[in-house]
Amino acid sequence: MAPHDTILLKTDIPYLKLHNKGKVREIFEIDDNLLLVATDRISAFDHILPNGIPHKGKVLTLMSEFWFKLTRELTENHLITTSIDEIDKITNEDKDLLRGRSMLVKKVEVIPVECIVRGYLAGSGWKEYKEHGTVCKINLPDNLKESDKLPEPIFTPSTKAESGHDENISFEEAVKITGRKLAEEIRQKSIAIYKKASEYALTKGIIISDTKFEWGKYGDKVILIDEVLTPDSSRFWPQESYSPGKSQPSFDKQFVRDHLEKSGWDKQSSPPSLPEDVIQITSQKYLEAYAKLTGKEISN
Ligand SMILES: Nc1ncnc2c1ncn2[C@@H]1O[C@H](COP(=O)(O)OP(=O)(O)O)[C@@H](O)[C@H]1O
Ligand SMILES: [Mg+2]
Repeated sequence: MAPHDTILLKTDIPYLKLHNKGKVREIFEIDDNLLLVATDRISAFDHILPNGIPHKGKVLTLMSEFWFKLTRELTENHLITTSIDEIDKITNEDKDLLRGRSMLVKKVEVIPVECIVRGYLAGSGWKEYKEHGTVCKINLPDNLKESDKLPEPIFTPSTKAESGHDENISFEEAVKITGRKLAEEIRQKSIAIYKKASEYALTKGIIISDTKFEWGKYGDKVILIDEVLTPDSSRFWPQESYSPGKSQPSFDKQFVRDHLEKSGWDKQSSPPSLPEDVIQITSQKYLEAYAKLTGKEISN
């Protein structure tokens, strides 16, 4: 039996039907539902890096569960359970590997728009603002600095590209993909969840600069799916060191991104191995974000 803190880079569950393999998750069919298994893989600049990050899969899974519960009155979501022991079809040996990093969820028809909400000006939002004074064609006040708080959170959708880079689109372009009624519903709900979560996170010393939600159609309902408000789907900044006018240090993957930016990697060829200290610090960042937000520790 593998120790529980083994770094899991891929799964091997031949008796379950594989539904899909993402950059981080491996997804299996279980009856009408899906089992989302978060590995310890890490991706940056749309590449999967060769190393795993200890505890990362568990942090992503248990943090998503935390937020699904906190936002339950704002929206229905896909979570059925994170208790692997409730799933009969999985062998005891595999349960030990999957425990804590797996979510049984309702299988939906995924709505093909990434629902990004930004409360601050960073990343591709800052880039567009510098050039055009807009983010996803939304006009913003003049003279904002990098990392400034926006007057109101904004909805800045992007396409869900099958491969390569997601592309920022305007709200009207999202309407063309989903229809107006659905686009308005996911915009309103995404902003409402961002507001609640970011207010909560601030009480724990974390700024959620921006985050990405995914939504799916389940029967006649629209429900929140995927991972939510994790360091992988969001930019988390420590509030104590927040100072606009530059990019912010963060709890999350930004640390790995900064390392790769400095490494000289061209972002096209296979990505380089991460040095051991970057792996360990990143693992600590994920665990720290989880502990700060939830007040709980991840057990091995
Ligand atoms: N309830 C669900 N039903 C169907 N697909 C889902 C559901 N929740 C998440 N997904 C999909 O599962 C995948 C998650 O795996 P991930 O490794 O995060 O992929 P990606 O590389 O696309 O980010 C995403 O493609 C997401 O759209
Ligand atoms: Mg994903």
